[in-house]
Amino acid sequence: MNYIKEIEIGNVLCKTNLFLAPMAGITDSPFRIMCLKGGAGLVCAEMVSANALAFDNKKSQKMLTISKEEHPVSMQVFGSEEETIANACRLAQKQGADIIDINAGCPVKKVNKAGAGAVLMKDLPKLARIVKAAVKSVSIPITLKTRIGLTKGNLLACDLVKLAQDNGAAAITLHARYASQMHAGEPDLKALEKARLVCKIPLIANGGAIDAKTTENLFQTGADAVMIGRGAIGNPFLFTELATGKPALTFKEKMALFESLVEQNVLYYGEKTGVSRTKKVVGFWIKGVSQAAILRQKLVLANTLKEVKEILSAVK
Ligand SMILES: Cc1cc2nc3c(=O)[nH]c(=O)nc-3n(C[C@H](O)[C@H](O)[C@H](O)COP(=O)(O)O)c2cc1C
Repeated sequence: MNYIKEIEIGNVLCKTNLFLAPMAGITDSPFRIMCLKGGAGLVCAEMVSANALAFDNKKSQKMLTISKEEHPVSMQVFGSEEETIANACRLAQKQGADIIDINAGCPVKKVNKAGAGAVLMKDLPKLARIVKAAVKSVSIPITLKTRIGLTKGNLLACDLVKLAQDNGAAAITLHARYASQMHAGEPDLKALEKARLVCKIPLIANGGAIDAKTTENLFQTGADAVMIGRGAIGNPFLFTELATGKPALTFKEKMALFESLVEQNVLYYGEKTGVSRTKKVVGFWIKGVSQAAILRQKLVLANTLKEVKEILSAVK
């Protein structure tokens, strides 16, 4: 694909402009490492609550841990107050983050009720203060990930771009859907084109990239990089596939990779949580496989690494 090239986000050099999107419950350290091996130029961690970090929450602190093998990595924080976000940014920088992303796009009720995520688009001066405070709090680049607006037809993309660049953000990611659409519907490419016209920092386009065609559609808006979410869940080598135009893995290799993800999850979280986290994504990995439903059922019932390995050995 012609659009694929190196890109700098602030002073961070990314080998390609195909990035892994932050996904809660998915883009943890083991999966991020796998996506970097699979050709992602930047990997983004699942969102971490700035409030929880302020209360020394152990689970949130673990979410900030970064392994040596996973660079460049962007840590994402969500919150509603400048001070708590600035504090979270300092902690993320201390843990070795290359970039910190501020979440102003999450449409989940629990997050929005706490005044964080997409509802920040309702109060742009406040969002501007948050970005400014984050930029001031650390020496690494701060980016903003948001939507093209809150409700369909009420386009905020250009205002959000200006807000990000005027307050020192090194890049902006626009998920080309309104928050009211959650994750469904066609991405609004025209909205990205409009945003591109006013954007002086790297514009990262997101929404619906699952193959060469859909990724190219996002690049054609003039975006500098494309961020891929669900398309990478069962296929961390999608980034290489898009860059080379060829399938990167055989089915056997893919299943071996899945098995190694379960192993890494078990090492990272312990057996119970490690296996259970992998169960949530198994459907993505075996999509299109014959007898996928039966295989999935077996894997969902497995509780140990040994059981998972036995089930997978039958399909490898
Ligand atoms: C399971 C799941 C979890 C997500 N968690 C986050 C998150 O933590 N932070 C965030 O900014 N976006 C999150 N998103 C949104 C994605 O980053 C991305 O914007 C969205 O999935 C659209 O991209 P896609 O069409 O390539 O999947 C999540 C999406 C999914 C499906």
